Amino acid sequence: MISISLRWKLILVTSLLIALIFSFNAYQFYRIQRQILENQIREKVDAYTMLSSRPLVEAFNNYFHSGFIKFKELLLDILVLSQDVRTIELIDVNGVILFDSAEIQQTSVAPDNPAGRVITDPDILSRIRGIEKSVDYHVAHADGEAIEVIYPFVEEWGKHSYTLRYTFGYQEMERSLAQVTTRMIQSAVLFVLLGILGSFFFAVGITGPVKELAAAARQVGAGNLDVRVPPVRTRDELAGLASTFDSMIQNLRTTIKEKDEYAGELHRLYLDMEEKVRERTRELAEKNELLQGAVREAQAADRAKSAFLASMSHELRTPLNSIIGFSGVLLQELYGPLNENERRDITTIYNSARHLLGLINDILDISKIEAGKFELIVERVNLKPILHAVINTGAGLLKNKQIELGLTIDEPLPTVMGDAGRIQQVLLNLVSNGIKFTRKGQVTVSAGLAKHNPAFVSISVRDTGIGIKPENLPKIFTEFVQLENPTGDTQSGTGLGLSIARRFVEIMGGQLSVESQWTVGSTFTFTLPRADNGPEPCA
Ligand SMILES: Nc1ncnc2c1ncn2[C@@H]1O[C@H](COP(=O)(O)OP(=O)(O)OP(=O)(O)O)[C@@H](O)[C@H]1O
Ligand SMILES: [Mg+2]
Repeated sequence: MISISLRWKLILVTSLLIALIFSFNAYQFYRIQRQILENQIREKVDAYTMLSSRPLVEAFNNYFHSGFIKFKELLLDILVLSQDVRTIELIDVNGVILFDSAEIQQTSVAPDNPAGRVITDPDILSRIRGIEKSVDYHVAHADGEAIEVIYPFVEEWGKHSYTLRYTFGYQEMERSLAQVTTRMIQSAVLFVLLGILGSFFFAVGITGPVKELAAAARQVGAGNLDVRVPPVRTRDELAGLASTFDSMIQNLRTTIKEKDEYAGELHRLYLDMEEKVRERTRELAEKNELLQGAVREAQAADRAKSAFLASMSHELRTPLNSIIGFSGVLLQELYGPLNENERRDITTIYNSARHLLGLINDILDISKIEAGKFELIVERVNLKPILHAVINTGAGLLKNKQIELGLTIDEPLPTVMGDAGRIQQVLLNLVSNGIKFTRKGQVTVSAGLAKHNPAFVSISVRDTGIGIKPENLPKIFTEFVQLENPTGDTQSGTGLGLSIARRFVEIMGGQLSVESQWTVGSTFTFTLPRADNGPEPCA
């Protein structure tokens, strides 16, 4: 593909435009010039025919037959008056040509039968016979196009005896037109050449700075940002472009320098960071080492704890059971009657030992649950025997309190999945709490399908006791938490019952919750999953 430089494109386009404009103007000028010349020729023809008709007719009448030489002289004098006239014919009203200037110029004697020709063309004949002058501007003639004037000659007294037919050629006009054209072509060539020269300088003025800009851009593209764009003095958009481009390069230079500085800074930061990461990793590894040591120590402690629990279980519970057993036998007076002091002391021994055993059992339970070692025997459980057993045990705890212990069971009561012993432990704790924290009134155990989810059975223990203040409700399931007991119940407990109960219920797949009103009473409710699965759980 040929590539043409911007400069040559500009020169070409401008020259072409100049040539086009000039040609168009020349053509218009030629047309106007031709029109003017044509008009001039017509005016000359008018004047010539008007002025020459009478002398011609008079010369014919006076000298054609009697002095032909004189006639010819007069005719030639008239012919010389116009450069454009080609022939003049004198015709009578019958169309007979009386003389033809072309013939007469060849001869020196009057022709015998000058006419020899008769005009028969009816159109021309009618024009000849008419008395109006008629002009035909474009008739064919031997020398090319011609003007034909038919000029009837009417005597002053009104007789129309002759008609003159003039033929004028356009040659003179063509000659002057040719001169005009030549001059025009000469000046056209001159102007186009001047135009090309002008456009060359114009193009150089525009493309010079553009070339310099392009060279600078190439340098920038190659990475040389130290290049300077030479100032352009054209005081136009190009000068603005050059100065903008120059400041752009300078900005770029500054930006790249800043970027390099930032990159250096970033690299330094990166190295710092790497060093810090290495340091932290070292510290982490050390801490990990320490942690592993701690884990090993903890595992050893856990093993020691398990060993301690096992031994406590055996070493403490065995003698405690003996103490309970023997003091119970003594209290039953199987070895003989007891005096008042003996009975009081042995009762204290008996109660304290039982309390201690309960405490040890609870602590063991909590420890096992926390260690994840607690194993439940989960099976299908019929709740009714458990409910009745707990009510019986609870009756034994009432002592002299005016409390009505009640049980309601919604029939049919489905079986549940759980550990029977632990269900009983949970329920007994709730009932014993109910009795412990109620002065008088009712403690009622109810069992039935859970209201909001029939896939569960719910068991609740409602009392009319001291109730729990709302702010204390979240605390009561925490180990060893005991609130004040204004009932004066001596069975103070350890504060582990509810915490163990909640964990057992949750392990069995249920939930333990409480609703209470201070001084009015409390209701503890726990749920257990039905053994027969029941219907689909509700949302
Ligand atoms: N029905 C209730 N009415 C009022 N307060 C209650 C009731 N049940 C429990 N509480 C409060 O919650 C505390 C914790 O109960 P939790 O059963 O865990 O311990 P405890 O009964 O005191 O001792 P134990 O370990 O022998 O059960 C109780 O000390 C008591 O303050
Ligand atoms: Mg309790």
